[in-house]
Amino acid sequence: MRDKRVLTGDRPTGELHLGHYVGSLQNRVRLQHDCESFFIIADLHVLSTRPEKRHVAQIGHHIRQIVLDYLAVGIDPEKSTIFVQSAIPGTYQLNLLFEMLVSVPRLERVPTIKEMAANAHLDSLPFGLLGYPVLQAADILLPRAHLVPVSKDNEAHVEVTREIARKFNRLYGEVFPEPQAVLGELLVGTDGKAKASKSRGNVITLSDDAETVREKVRRMYTDPRRVRPDIPGRVEGNPVFIYHEAFNEDRAQVAELKDRYRQGKVGDVEVKRLLARAINRFLDPIRMRRRRYAAQPGLVQDILRDGNRRMREEAAQTMSVVYDAMGLPGPDAAAGAGYPAASPAES
Ligand code: TRP
Repeated sequence: MRDKRVLTGDRPTGELHLGHYVGSLQNRVRLQHDCESFFIIADLHVLSTRPEKRHVAQIGHHIRQIVLDYLAVGIDPEKSTIFVQSAIPGTYQLNLLFEMLVSVPRLERVPTIKEMAANAHLDSLPFGLLGYPVLQAADILLPRAHLVPVSKDNEAHVEVTREIARKFNRLYGEVFPEPQAVLGELLVGTDGKAKASKSRGNVITLSDDAETVREKVRRMYTDPRRVRPDIPGRVEGNPVFIYHEAFNEDRAQVAELKDRYRQGKVGDVEVKRLLARAINRFLDPIRMRRRRYAAQPGLVQDILRDGNRRMREEAAQTMSVVYDAMGLPGPDAAAGAGYPAASPAES
């Protein structure tokens, strides 16, 4: 594991939530001890659905929140490199080269792309949104990562990355590893919809306070047929119990509640009250660390300055290997003098 590299990250569109935690953050915190880890805050990806200046103006604030979320869950900036995508010249460079290695129909088959276009109410597909998985491949392969901790909704993107890596290596020689997704769970929304996502407003964020958690849990979707507490309830697929499973450390209590619920011997109010308490117990240390980090002036800027510098060096090394392998002079060659003046046959 020591020689394995990890890259994953998030778009800066808002605070991270419990879905991010079970989907990816948990795996990152675990992997950072054994693997050299890179965590990207993918601001350029935001532009694929929201290029307007009023959205760009929010990105800086969201980046700060995400770095605080990272620190709060236990990502250690001494061990890992946290950086901002747009600060790395190699991102733009590798993205362009990768665009030559994948077909439009292949990208049109990536299911998340149409979903993102629909969610953002776009009536036609921007070129850059179609290229979303290509840009993500550049993110992953720039530090030549082997492992990509993501939730299932990003699996198709990692598959595109693997195909691009294979194609590059076939054309130019063995430069990139073929990275593997480390899949986390996909958490249901508090409304019972398939996926917790901020745009649906069905999430509990890592920075929600105790009262907000109680309120969100109180309104959580549960077995709809259960209009009275003495009606036997359904545990399977019930978001309240899925969250109990994921966040309540008192396993005996969870088992007992399920039993009583199935027999119609406990009310939803009580099950939810205990869930809110469990989630708050889970979030308490995260909130405490978050507050402590947030109070340190300049901390986030320092971490990003360091991370950006480390990633820029890493990216420059990869790009030099890439240009070499391709026989392309690259941007560091003196203008016009990059290619040999005459072909080898003529000289
Ligand atoms: N696509 C990811 C998301 O759903 C964000 C992301 C951008 C990413 N680049 C990445 C994830 C590279 C893993 C690896 O928000």
